[in-house]
Order: sequence, then structure tokens, then C-alpha cells
Amino acid sequence: MPKQKQSAAIYPGCSLRSIFVPTLRENPVNQPIVNAINVSRYFKRGSERVDVLDDLSLQVPEGQFLALMGPSGSGKTTLLNLIAGLDTPSSGEIWVGESLVSKMSESQLARWRTENVGFVFQFYHLLPVLSAYENVELPLLLLPLSSKKRREQVMTALDLVGLHDRSKHIPSQLSGGQQQRVGIARAIVTDPTLIVADEPTGDLDAKSAHEILDLMCTLQRSLNKTILMVTHDPRAAKRADRIQYLDKGQLVDKPEDELYEAG
Ligand SMILES: Nc1ncnc2c1ncn2[C@@H]1O[C@H](COP(=O)(O)OP(=O)(O)OP(=O)(O)O)[C@@H](O)[C@H]1O
Ligand SMILES: [Mg+2]
Repeated sequence: MPKQKQSAAIYPGCSLRSIFVPTLRENPVNQPIVNAINVSRYFKRGSERVDVLDDLSLQVPEGQFLALMGPSGSGKTTLLNLIAGLDTPSSGEIWVGESLVSKMSESQLARWRTENVGFVFQFYHLLPVLSAYENVELPLLLLPLSSKKRREQVMTALDLVGLHDRSKHIPSQLSGGQQQRVGIARAIVTDPTLIVADEPTGDLDAKSAHEILDLMCTLQRSLNKTILMVTHDPRAAKRADRIQYLDKGQLVDKPEDELYEAG
């Protein structure tokens, strides 16, 4: 894999962009930011072996918004976890930029995730006793930043999701859509290479879901974020640049089950 350069590139079109400059990376033209090569993942349950992903390959260019669909149990979360460095494949390689994620040790992975991946969850995973500000600040506490720099980044992220004025609210004082905005602010506060979102609109009403998808499109278009989103909702998937369906452990362009057709 060619080496990537550290870059002084900044968020295009973002007035607060200078805040995140030191951690942005530049990817060589045509080089996918995610490159999963012949990846298999099976799980053992006693003597039984469950094959979930079977010799699967996936390339995602930098700045692409990819939706991943497929029936329950088809391995969407398993694939997302492998790419995000929460799990390692049984065989095959996973590269994210210049990093061979699939060969990292647990401690290397923990550090790599903190710096490179923002996570968005279906049920937000906010700590109920912490304010929106404190929830967003959490990933930054793992990085060597001054409290001034942390504050700048947290307020930038809350600004980007339109919740500057809710920073002192705890999750129970926020709507579901607002809680997911806090979740997205937490995901982007470290300026990660990748945002992985596992059913981010699965617990929201149609209007809030629409707003969250608008926000994700903004992150992609204005900030050039690469987004991998798992969804069961064909309308949500249609907002992405590209849809891939998991079928029998492989990725396909067309779903076998028409229920999953985003049309
Ligand atoms: N740690 C594990 N141990 C054993 N089996 C597992 C483990 N993790 C996942 N599996 C199995 O792998 C398969 C795929 O699970 P996964 O969670 O990736 O599905 P999914 O496509 O995300 O489903 P859903 O849409 O319901 O979230 C399932 O059969 C599941 O039981
Ligand atoms: Mg899942």
C-alpha cells in the first residue's frame, strides 16, 4: 500500500475548519480509504462454526457515503465492526488508509480507533448523567489535548450539528433526534477518517430520521467525510452515494430479496 502524507488540508467551506487541521489526512487520488481484501469471518459456538462473511472484498473511496443493507443476521454489523477495528477477521486484510487494521494488536487498535473512527449507534449510547457537552468531550479525553483545545473542538462539533445552545442539557432533556445529533457530534469531534453508523435512524420518527440523514450528507459533502452506514430503511439508503447488499456472506449490487430494494 502506498504511504499517505500528513496533510495541511482543511475542511472545505467550514468556517471553523482550522480547529481540526492537525489531524486531517490526505489520501492519494484513486486510492480507496477502505480496502477490505478477501475477508472472511466465522464464529465458533461450541463445536459449531457459523460462517458470516465469506471471502468478501470492498473498496470505499475517500469521501463516499456508502449504505450497507441486508436481512437481519446477514453480517452487516460484523462487517462494520471489522472495518472499524472493533473485531479482527478470521482471514483476509483490512486497510484503512495506510493502516493495516486487521493485523493490529488490541492496544494498537484502541489507539487507532480513537484517532480514526467516529461511531454512531442506533440507541445513541450517551451517558445519561453527562451533559451533551461532556458526552461529546469523552473521546477527546483519550487524546493529549489542552482543555482549551478540547473546548474548541467540542463547541465546533456541537455547532456543526446545530446544538450549540443545548450543550448543558443531559440526554433525558433532549429529543431522540437531538440525542442522535449529540451522538454525531461525539463521532466527529476527533475529526476521524471514517464515520461508521449502525442503523443511525432506526429509533427515530420519519422527520428526525430525515434531519439526521441531512446532517450526514452535510458531513460528507462539506467536510469530505467517508461514511459507512448500515440501515434497514430503503429511504435512508437512497440518500447514500452507493448501496451494497450483504448476501450469503458476500457483497452484491442488487438484493436477492426485493424487500431490500431501495428502488
Ligand atoms: N460474537 C459472536 N459470536 C457468535 N456469533 C456471532 C457473533 N457476532 C455475530 N454473530 C453471528 O453472526 C451473524 C451476523 O450477525 P450481525 O450482527 O453482523 O448481523 P446483522 O446483519 O447486523 O443483523 P441485524 O440487522 O439484526 O443487526 C448472526 O448469525 C450472529 O448470530
Ligand atoms: Mg446489526
